[in-house]
Amino acid sequence: PTPTLSQGCNGLQLEDVSLAAIAETYGTPTYVYSRRALVEAFSAYQRALAGRRALVCYAVKANSSLGVLSVFAQLGAGFDIVSGGELSRVLAAGGDAGKVVFSGVGKSRAEMRQALAAGIRCFNVESAAEIDRLNEVASELGKVAPIAFRVNPDVDPKTHPYISTGLKSNKFGVAFDTALELYRRAASLSHLRVSGIACHIGSQLLDPAPIAEAATKVLDLVDRLAAEGIALDHIDLGGGLGIRYRDEVPPTVTEYLGPLLKLLDGRTEEICFEPGRSLVGNAGLLLTRVEYLKPGEEKNFAIVDAAMNDLARPALYDAYHEVVAVQPRDVPARNYEIVGPICESGDFLAHDRSLAVEPGDLVALLSAGAYGMAMSSNYNTRPRAAEVMVDGQRVHLIRQRETVESLYALESPLS
Ligand code: LLP
Repeated sequence: PTPTLSQGCNGLQLEDVSLAAIAETYGTPTYVYSRRALVEAFSAYQRALAGRRALVCYAVKANSSLGVLSVFAQLGAGFDIVSGGELSRVLAAGGDAGKVVFSGVGKSRAEMRQALAAGIRCFNVESAAEIDRLNEVASELGKVAPIAFRVNPDVDPKTHPYISTGLKSNKFGVAFDTALELYRRAASLSHLRVSGIACHIGSQLLDPAPIAEAATKVLDLVDRLAAEGIALDHIDLGGGLGIRYRDEVPPTVTEYLGPLLKLLDGRTEEICFEPGRSLVGNAGLLLTRVEYLKPGEEKNFAIVDAAMNDLARPALYDAYHEVVAVQPRDVPARNYEIVGPICESGDFLAHDRSLAVEPGDLVALLSAGAYGMAMSSNYNTRPRAAEVMVDGQRVHLIRQRETVESLYALESPLS
């Protein structure tokens, strides 16, 4: 699934750098990203949107490393954030606040102040109570907050229930039927400026139909608003395009956007997207080393030095990540449970994978660029992995491996 991964003379390599050399220099576990894959993924959106008023706002939550953000900032991306912390990261990476949209159901007053001071592009408001709070905060600062309502179009995105967000039963967005009324109210508040509309129905979408269905509903609402004199400047259709982890056949960016762009033909609003996974997912892998092989009666275990704290998706969603040996080995392949050192039965990275490996060998977990490092933790006092970005023949260390001391630096024992 990773476009820039290939077989070289020293085993697997990403762009022009062997993974073995990376492990040698930076240790394991390490997240490894390909700059070229990031650029290619972003360019696919740019090409599909060429000639239109459009903004691609990378969903920072998928991977918020400054190294990754800076690559997108240099390409002119906007950013979709969900916290003040993500806004700080975007600015630290050289991103343009004027291209930031702020999603999320729980924006605090402090986060609103921070975003207003930075001059973000738009607040994607998710409740009636939020417009009152935002109006108040903006008025205290003598500012006018640009807003869009994130509407919940109540379509089934046909994805994992944990990552589907556009159904009535989800906590996200405002109910479609109430949107008109909310826009009227927002338009009457002195410190808000109605700017757009947003929706996001779910993640890892493999079928373009539900998003087109959502867009149809959204456009109908936009027209009803216009008829009332509430003209919107932009339409944000969220993120969600899926990637290939195993044998999925996701639509290409062009196939995914095609039906949407057809619906949008002839319209003047700017069109925005908030892709996360499809920009970074297959641009990254998690490099880890086999510590022990533990043959068993029912199962064989390959215990590696990465764990669920590094890559939570298998434990959390039963997600599949391909596991490949970095260097060929002349030993018989066996089926292994790939597990980490954490004291939980749920600490697995993959089930029942055929691998020809020996202790000390490197393996790579593919498609780990999205929601990998970003969801990592320090469970079991495990320092978070290092992160490197490969760029042709060069390797940039974009995040040092954490030290154990740093993990408890903010703590104090009782005397
Ligand atoms: N915009 C909004 C408002 C979102 O909630 C999300 C993702 C995105 C954009 C980006 O969606 P994407 O293009 O990445 O599908 N941790 C889960 C995924 C959670 C997605 C949450 N929202 C996973 O590992 O699969």
